[in-house]
Amino acid sequence: MEKVFAAPGNAGTAAIAENLNLRPTNMEGLGKAAKEKGIDLVVVGPEAPLASGIVNYFDNLGIPVFGPTKAATQVESSKVFARNLMEKYGIPFPKSAIFSSYSEAREYLQEQRLPVVIKADGLAAGKGVIIVSSLAEAHKALGDIMEAKIFGSAGDSVIIDEYVSGREVSLIAFTDGKTVSPMVPACDYKKIGDNDQGPNTGGMGSYSPPGFFSAGMTEKVTKDILVPTVKAMAEEGILYKGVLYAGLMIVDGEPVVLEFNARFGDPETQVVLPLLKTDLVDILVAVVRGNLDRVKIEWSAEACVGVVAASAGYPESYKTGFPIQGIDNVDRDVLVFHAGTKLGNDGIIYTDGGRVLTVAGMGKDMAEAREKVYRNIHNIYFGGCYYRKDIALREVA
Ligand code: GLY
Repeated sequence: MEKVFAAPGNAGTAAIAENLNLRPTNMEGLGKAAKEKGIDLVVVGPEAPLASGIVNYFDNLGIPVFGPTKAATQVESSKVFARNLMEKYGIPFPKSAIFSSYSEAREYLQEQRLPVVIKADGLAAGKGVIIVSSLAEAHKALGDIMEAKIFGSAGDSVIIDEYVSGREVSLIAFTDGKTVSPMVPACDYKKIGDNDQGPNTGGMGSYSPPGFFSAGMTEKVTKDILVPTVKAMAEEGILYKGVLYAGLMIVDGEPVVLEFNARFGDPETQVVLPLLKTDLVDILVAVVRGNLDRVKIEWSAEACVGVVAASAGYPESYKTGFPIQGIDNVDRDVLVFHAGTKLGNDGIIYTDGGRVLTVAGMGKDMAEAREKVYRNIHNIYFGGCYYRKDIALREVA
């Protein structure tokens, strides 16, 4: 690998790559840039360009591209598609019903034991899954999604899921459509506040591996969920290549699928990939070429903890444009992943989003990793900096 480009990138990628001022959904612009710059591997991160078929676009241009096609991305871009696939192929998921009629969905809700989970079918920037505990909340969520169309056509259909409780975990796998290779498991923290209080966010931290998720459970999820899903897609005539993310609930020792994503999870990836010992590029290339079976993927037995530093007010309104101090003032083995950051013309890094950065650290065990992250995050400062204090605490308490 000689040079990396990022589109659009941020202040973090500016330090290690060349940023291209192009939105990830600007297929034509990205295709043109890839040709001009002689880019020989494209790696797609977010769901929006995947769902609009960016992988098909680069395939047609003859430029190697890592990620699932538009058809394969349906496991994430349509919850109805994913739910029907799971039903047809016997992949475990919570009891649920699909509705494209508002009045039928409302009627169904009357008979359900609450809480239930109401999910918009399509992509909703992580906001389309709403847990409701009263009929009033349920009617509001349903009305917002199906009548007010707050997520647009993503709310033409909904799924209403039974609420299942247990231990939530994410298992992400590389797959070339034949071989499925799971990564190390991780847990993310979705709520803004300590002890899981307050509204949902894009993720406030994560850790790997969770103590409750054994190697045997990784095998079981791979055998009962990940491999059958890739095979089911093949049965449907869809080659699934890239990353398959299973968001799971372990209920009385049995995993059920809450959601699939067609990409690396955030912020799980910030604690999973630091534990990868094999060269990531070798894996990406093998997936694209369809010979993942030839790569021996090895993982560190260490623990990794990642804590997100966010702008005060997030996930509601917040201010940006604060200078960030101390990013270089962390231990050499601590990683700072940028999200909402921007490099100013003055060379200073400024906040530029709700979730600003993730500080990730490894240790021989969770306690060591956790201590390292919290010791180092104190060295980083920006106006209104907020982070949860309890990431991975339950693993060490
Ligand atoms: N951590 C969940 C996601 O990336 O959607």
